[in-house]
Amino acid sequence: MARPKIALIGAGQIGGTLAHLAAIKELGDVVLFDISEGTPQGKALDIAESGPSEGFDGSFKGTNDYADIAGADACIVTAGVPRKPGMSRDDLLGINLKVMKSVGEGIKAHAPDAFVICITNPLDAMVWALQQFSGLPAEKVVGMAGVLDSARFRHFLATEFNVSMRDVTAFVLGGHGDTMVPLVRYSTVAGIPLPDLIDMGWTTQERLDAIVQRTRDGGAEIVGLLKTGSAFYAPATSAIEMAEAYLKDQKRLLPCAAWVDGALGLNGFYVGVPTIIGAGGVERIVDIKMNADEQAMFDKSVAAVKGLVEACKGIDSSLA
Ligand code: APR
Repeated sequence: MARPKIALIGAGQIGGTLAHLAAIKELGDVVLFDISEGTPQGKALDIAESGPSEGFDGSFKGTNDYADIAGADACIVTAGVPRKPGMSRDDLLGINLKVMKSVGEGIKAHAPDAFVICITNPLDAMVWALQQFSGLPAEKVVGMAGVLDSARFRHFLATEFNVSMRDVTAFVLGGHGDTMVPLVRYSTVAGIPLPDLIDMGWTTQERLDAIVQRTRDGGAEIVGLLKTGSAFYAPATSAIEMAEAYLKDQKRLLPCAAWVDGALGLNGFYVGVPTIIGAGGVERIVDIKMNADEQAMFDKSVAAVKGLVEACKGIDSSLA
C-alpha cells in the first residue's frame, strides 16, 4: 500500500519540525509548501539527508506550488506569522486571516479529501475561517490547541508531583487564549483527580492555581524567552499526535478545536472540546458535564472566540 501523503502548509519553525517528526515516525511522504522560495526545498532536502543515519524511508519534497499537495491525506497548516514579545495571539488576526484565505483555496483546489489540522493563531478563529474558505466538511477541519495546552499542564503537574508525565492526564478546553479552561476536576494522576491530591497533601490549592495560570500563560512564557518567535517543538509534536490518530484510525480522545453543533451547549461553533479522532476525522464530540464554575469559564472563553470570529467577518465580507 502506498505511504500516506502529508502536506505541510508553512515551512517555518513549526513546519520544519513537523516534517522532521513525520520523518522519524515514518508517518508518510511529506510535501512542504511555503511562499518563501528555497525554504521548503532546503528543509525537505536537509531532512531527507538525515534519513540514512536515522534509518527512515519516505520522500520529502519542498515546493512553492500548491499543485504538489495534490491528493494529500493530511494537511497541517502553520502558514502565517507568529507573535513577538508583548503581542497576544489575537494581534495576529488581520494578517493571518488573509493567509487562511489563500491556504483554504489551495487546499480546496488540490487536497479536498484531506484531514486538515490548523495551528495558525489566533487558533479558534483561524480554523473556523480555514474551514469556511476551504469548504471542506467540518469534521475534516480541526485546530490544534488543546493537546498542546494539556501537554503543558501535564508537564507542570508531573514536575509538581514528581511523577512520570505519562501518568498525568489533563484536559484544557475552550479557546486557545488567555481564557482557556484547564479542567482541574477532569485532570488526574493515574486516575486520582487533582482535588483529591490536594486532600491527600500532594499539593495546595494555591500551588495548583499557580500551575493553572502558568498553563494559560504557557505560550507567552516561551515567546518571552525566545524573543524572536513562538513555541515550535511542543506545538509540532501535538499536531503530529492528532495527525497520527487520523492516519492510523486510533480513535484517540483528544481536546481539539472542533465544530460543535449540539453538544456542550453550543450550536455551530469552533472551540476547544474533547473529541474522538479516527479515520472519519472528528468522529465524536464528547459532551462532558461541567459544573457551574467550569461552565462559567467555558462560556467566557467561547465569548472571547466569538469576538474574534465577528472581527474576521468585519475584515472579510465573504465570511459574513
Ligand atoms: N502561504 C504559505 N506560507 C506562508 C504564507 C502563505 N500565504 N504566509 C506566510 N507563510 C509562511 C512563512 O513564509 C513562514 O515560513 O509561514 C511560515 C511561518 O513560519 P514561522 O514564521 O517560523 O512561524 P511558526 O513559528 O512556524 O508559527 C506559525 O503557528 O503557532 C502558530 O502563532 C503561530 O501563527 C503562527 C503559526
